[in-house]
Amino acid sequence: MTQRTLVLVKPDGVQRGLTGQILARIEAKGYTLAQLELVNATREILEQHYEEHQGKPFFEPLVEFMLSGPVVAAVVEGDRVIEGFRSLAGATEPTTAAPGTIRGDLGRDWGEKVQKNLVHGSDSPESAEREIGIWFS
Ligand code: RTP
Ligand code: MG
Repeated sequence: MTQRTLVLVKPDGVQRGLTGQILARIEAKGYTLAQLELVNATREILEQHYEEHQGKPFFEPLVEFMLSGPVVAAVVEGDRVIEGFRSLAGATEPTTAAPGTIRGDLGRDWGEKVQKNLVHGSDSPESAEREIGIWFS
C-alpha cells in the first residue's frame, strides 16, 4: 500500500492565507490529497496529537496556538511521503529552515513561546496512522 501521512496547515498558515500555496507545493511534488478538511481543533484532539510533548515548556503555548483558529487537516499519499513531506516542510525553526522549504520560504520567528511554523507532518509510519485516526475518526 502507498504510504500515508497526516499534514496540518496550522492556524498561522490558514490565517495568513497560505493554505493554497502549501497544498499547491504538496501537489506539485506529485503527492495526492486523499482527505482534506477545515477543522476547529479541540484541546482533547491536541492533547492526543501532541502526547509526546506533554510536560515540555512549549506544550501549553503550543495547544493555545493550535486553538487560535481553524487548521486544515489532510491525509497525503505517495511513496516515501512521510520523509518527502518533512523535507518539503523544512526544519522546525522557520528562521533557520532552508530556503526552498515551506517553513524557510513562508515562515519567520515572531518572538513567541512557541514556534509558529505553518505546517505539521507525521514523523513515522506509526505516528501517521495514529494521527490520521485522531483527526479523521
Ligand atoms: P511538527 O510535529 O509540528 O511537524 O513539527 P516538528 O516535528 O518539526 O517539531 P516537534 O519537535 O514535533 O514540535 C512540535 C511543534 O511544537 C512547536 N515547538 N515550538 N521551542 C519552541 O518554541 C518550540 N518547540 C517546538 C512547533 O510548532 C513544532 O512544530
Ligand atoms: Mg513533530
